[in-house]
Amino acid sequence: MTTDAAGSDVGSLAARFPTDFRWGAATAAYQIEGAVHEGGRGPSIWDTFSHTPGRTAGGDTGDVAVDHFHRWRDDVALMADLGLQSYRFSIAWPRIQPTGRGPANEEGLDFYSGLVDALLDKGIRPVPTLYHWDLPQALEDSGGWPERDTAFRFADYAGLVTERLGDRIPLWLTLNEPWCSAYLGYAAGVHAPGRTEPTAAMAAVHHLNLAHALGAKAIRAVSGADTGIGAALNFHLPRPADPTDPRDLDAVRRVDALANRAFLQPMMEGRYPDDLICDVAGVTNFDFVRDDDLDTLTTPLTTLGINYYSSCVVRHYDGATPRATADGHGDGASPWVGADHVEFPPTAPPHTAMGWNIDPSGFTELLVGLSRRYPDLPLLVTENGSAFHDRVDADGRVRDTERTDYLRRHLGAVADALDAGADVRGYLVWSLLDNFEWAYGYDRRFGIVRVDDDTQERTVKDSGRFYAAVLAAHRSRPGTR
Ligand code: FCB
Repeated sequence: MTTDAAGSDVGSLAARFPTDFRWGAATAAYQIEGAVHEGGRGPSIWDTFSHTPGRTAGGDTGDVAVDHFHRWRDDVALMADLGLQSYRFSIAWPRIQPTGRGPANEEGLDFYSGLVDALLDKGIRPVPTLYHWDLPQALEDSGGWPERDTAFRFADYAGLVTERLGDRIPLWLTLNEPWCSAYLGYAAGVHAPGRTEPTAAMAAVHHLNLAHALGAKAIRAVSGADTGIGAALNFHLPRPADPTDPRDLDAVRRVDALANRAFLQPMMEGRYPDDLICDVAGVTNFDFVRDDDLDTLTTPLTTLGINYYSSCVVRHYDGATPRATADGHGDGASPWVGADHVEFPPTAPPHTAMGWNIDPSGFTELLVGLSRRYPDLPLLVTENGSAFHDRVDADGRVRDTERTDYLRRHLGAVADALDAGADVRGYLVWSLLDNFEWAYGYDRRFGIVRVDDDTQERTVKDSGRFYAAVLAAHRSRPGTR
């Protein structure tokens, strides 16, 4: 029997997953690559934003990040040592098209092509995300996501990447968390490009959905109609402060509409929720939706990517000044467009270093709920993980018991969802490496592998050892691929 550092039985945890369940880790280009001026890369909105004083903690930027652009061979070797079967990374659009338009920059394609080959060599399945928030700055200068043309530029980019990599990619993820791109980027302004324009944010929602669909079509035009396509959505799991108060239940409905159904429904059913359209009527009349867009939106997904970290509590709010959190990063402009009468009271402890509550049962609920709603759609956990303030012990080891515990409980939650009939095909932990955590800079560590700030040295944390032990136990089961 295999046991992890804390002595618990990883064998019985691993035995709860089907033999063809796939394990891996996730990262994103701007958070790890660095080398922002190398390989012909153009500037992205995150370069501009992180270099604007006051936008990120300590003025941190992704200029160097964790130097993955130069260390990727070692990082792939590390993944193989951990026993990963899948690796989700993102492709930096400004490495492929430095200004977001025009022919591909071959050096950029070479970089990702080399990475894909190295992964395949080690038996690790590459799962690229085409857009993890690093819009070429030139496209933002032309209006960004509130501008319809950006969706068409994304489709061109998706086609260029597929022409080069498509023969080796079984599953593409188009967008990562369009909720963040639209609402944090254009309403709350806490993510790049830092705008606080609610009407523009709603247009961004639509153009991101359109980009997803047009991108999927462009991929399939190159790689065939059966090509695996998904998107990674960050579902919110709002719980009512008082489940008997109809106003709190209505707050739940609003948050669900803005956060979840604004993306899932167009992608799956080709339409926007009627209640969402009413809720935001004071902000927009949806005139950015053109007649044939709704037909375009429904491009069959083969996989739905789920990013889950925590749940939230919501209640009706009568005060005069709108309040934002969950997670608009504080009480500045709200990401919750048209939801001035919703507030997010504090959640019960425990919390991670992000201030997010730890709620594994919410994870099970979410996975089971989605599988019931869309029974033919396989689910893939594209992100799940936790930030804690790690300490390196004198012997060099990182005994991150809280992260290990978070991981164990959330893997248990996925197993519970499987038991309840959810069709979950795999799990990708966030994140392989400590990295640039957006507005929080390097102050929040999510890695199962520590990265030393000064030397860039990688050290597998206890959580990484635990994860590797689960994967090894799973692999040793008869019939495991
Ligand atoms: C998600 C992002 C990912 C990372 C984690 C902690 O919202 O997709 O890049 O920042 O949160």
